Amino acid sequence: MRDRVTPLLSEAQIHARVRELGARLTQDYAGKDLVVVGLLNGVFPFIADLVRAMELDIDVSFMQVASYGGGLESTGEVHILKDLDRSIRGRHALVVEDIVDTGLTLFKVSNLLKDREPLSLKICTLLDKPSRRKVEVPVDYVGFTIEDHFVVGYGLDMDGKLRNLPYVGVYHP
Ligand code: IMP
Ligand code: MG
Repeated sequence: MRDRVTPLLSEAQIHARVRELGARLTQDYAGKDLVVVGLLNGVFPFIADLVRAMELDIDVSFMQVASYGGGLESTGEVHILKDLDRSIRGRHALVVEDIVDTGLTLFKVSNLLKDREPLSLKICTLLDKPSRRKVEVPVDYVGFTIEDHFVVGYGLDMDGKLRNLPYVGVYHP
C-alpha cells in the first residue's frame, strides 16, 4: 500500500507546525481549566505530539464516533462508540481532530458536546479540506489547509491501514 502514497507533508514540516500550534494553545489557554478532547482513531499521533507541545496542566480525554453508512464519505449521522471519561461542564473544551472534510462529523460532535455546557468549545485540526465542506463548522486552529486529495499517514487511514506512516501523503488508488 505504501507504494501508492506520494509525500505531501514531511515529518519535519508536521513537527514544526505542531510545535507552533502548541505554543499558541499554551498562550490561549494559560490559567484556564482545559479538557483536550481527541477524536479516535485518527487523532492519536497528532494529539500525542500536540499535547506535549502545550506547557499547561490539562486533561486529555478521548471519544470515538462512527458515521452511519460506509465508504469514504461520512453521512452526517454519528453515534458514540466511546464517550469521554471526563466531564466538560463548566470547563474549557478543545476538540482535536485529524482532518475536517465535509465537516459533518465535527458539526454533530460539536452540538453533542455543547449540550454538556462547557465554558467554551473550540476545534483544532491537523488538516483542513475547505473545498469539501458541506456544513459550516468554525475551525479555530488549523495545522495545514490542503487541496481535495485523499490523504493518509500520521493517523489518517485508508481502510484502517497506513495510520502509522510518519508523514502525510496522497493515496493513489
Ligand atoms: P467529515 O465528517 O467529512 O469532516 O469527515 C471527517 C472524517 O473523515 C475524518 O475524521 C477522517 O476519518 C475521514 N477523512 C476525511 N478525509 C480523509 C482523507 O483524506 N483521508 C483519510 N480520512 C479522511
Ligand atoms: Mg477521523
